[in-house]
Formats: sequence, C-alpha cells, structure tokens
Amino acid sequence: MMYEGKSKRVYVKNSNTLIMEFKDTVTALDGARIAEAPGKGILNAALTAYFFDMLKKEGIENHFMDYDGCRVITVKKLNMVPIEVIVRNYAYGSLIKRLPLFKPLTKLTTPLVEFHYKSDELHDPLILPEDVVNSGLMSLDEVKYVILTSLRVNEVLTRRLSECGLRLIDFKLEYGRDLNNKLVLADEISGDTIRVLDSDGRHLDKELFRRGGGVDDLIKAYALLAQRLGVNVTV
Ligand code: ATP
Ligand code: TYD
Repeated sequence: MMYEGKSKRVYVKNSNTLIMEFKDTVTALDGARIAEAPGKGILNAALTAYFFDMLKKEGIENHFMDYDGCRVITVKKLNMVPIEVIVRNYAYGSLIKRLPLFKPLTKLTTPLVEFHYKSDELHDPLILPEDVVNSGLMSLDEVKYVILTSLRVNEVLTRRLSECGLRLIDFKLEYGRDLNNKLVLADEISGDTIRVLDSDGRHLDKELFRRGGGVDDLIKAYALLAQRLGVNVTV
C-alpha cells in the first residue's frame, strides 16, 4: 500500500499503474465527522469508473484504466498537484459562505472554476489562478488547460445527468502529472465529490451527511444516483 486517505486506499501495481480501493468510510467537515457506510465503496468505484469511461469516450483524457466490478479501479500513476478544482453551475456550499449575496441554488451566469489549495489543516482555502502560477504549482498554460478541461467535463456531466432528469450543482476534480510531465485528470467522480439534485430537489450526493444525516440515507441517495444513470451496482 502506498497511501491511505480518508476515502481510498492506494496500492502500487507497477511503476506506471496504481490500484485504488474505495473504502466504505464517509467523512465530512475535513474529516471531523467520520462514519462507516457499508456499500459506499462499491457505489463510488462504480460511478467513478462510469464517469471516467464516459469522459474518455468524449475525448477527455484521464487516469482511468480498468474497473474490477467491485470497489477497485486501476489507474495511471500520476504525481498529483495539491489543488482541488471546483466547478459550479449554481451557488451552493462554500460559495454562499464566502459571498452570502447569493440565494442557494441561484444559477450562475456562466460556470465558475475555482482553485483550492489541498490542505485539511487550512480547510482547502480558495486561491487565485495567479497564486497557482506564482507558487509554481502550475504554469499559466497548465492553468488554462485545467480550466478548459474542467469546463468540458462540466458539459459532459451536465448533459448526461440532465438526460436522467438530474441537475448538476457543482463538483470537484483533481489533476496529476504523468511521466512526460503532462497534466491528466485524476482521482474520482462520485456522490462524494459532486452535488446532484433530482426534480423534487432531493440530494443524490453527500450533502445530507454533511448536514448531520445518517449513513442509511447516504447509501440510498448514492444507490439512486447509480440507478438513475443506469449503472448496475449490487450493494
Ligand atoms: P481528500 O479526501 O481531501 O481528497 P485524501 O488524501 O484523504 O484527501 P483519498 O481519496 O482517500 O483522499 O485518497 C486518494 C489519494 O490518491 C488522494 O491523495 C488523491 O490525490 C490521490 N490520487 C488520485 N488519483 C491519483 C493518481 N492517478 N495517481 C496518484 N495519486 C492519485
Ligand atoms: P464546496 O461548496 O466548496 O464545499 P462545502 O462542501 O464545504 O460546502 O464544495 C463544492 C463541491 O466540491 C461539492 O460538490 C463537494 C466537492 N468537494 C469535494 O469533493 N471535496 C472537498 O474537499 C471539497 C471542499 C469540495
């Protein structure tokens, strides 16, 4: 095992390939709230495999290689950039906290791409694109690539979810560098990392758990998200 994070264990398969095992553990508030949610691992692995495969078919390169049908995916090994890229279509969460002028779920005139420095200790602070460049985390061209790629991901996910009667509020992406130093889309896309509402305004994501709800409701919401997308998972 190379690394154990809050929601995944990462194993080295060979010098270019990693195995990612999705845990059943669910966390919120930068790890301050933690619980076991049996079934979460398989649901998030299945959804991640589904979304990354779809993005590949749409020409958006990413780290996904293979899915074992359970809680494990095989990915290209990357050198991760410690940045969380958040794309927003509607005002919610930390956007409203930092700017309470927005009513929750106000549609943004154009999708917003934010950069957050990945640090639980500092609570993933919002940083400027200029900070990303000046600190040496990414070059200006890389920042432009990440913005354009993240917006393309948003288009693909928004379209697919809306075909299923679902509304994509926001989501988080991560990027890493391959052996040629090229940035590649990585990590996961699952109920943990997106906000999705159904037509009745119900969350099919981690929001209820963030607000203090139980793990049973979380698993129901994740299973419903998979079902609506036609992703076959037996929990
Ligand atoms: P957070 O939950 O805040 O993202 P974490 O480290 O607890 O942090 P996990 O998802 O549990 O997150 O751990 C997975 C780790 O693997 C993360 O650090 C992520 O950046 C990293 N990672 C994702 N994709 C790749 C990849 N292709 N190559 C190398 N590392 C990766
Ligand atoms: P955001 O509104 O910034 O944070 P909060 O959850 O504190 O209200 O979250 C925007 C989106 O990014 C949301 O879909 C959840 C996702 N996200 C992650 O996946 N990991 C993270 O560490 C953070 C901060 C957000």
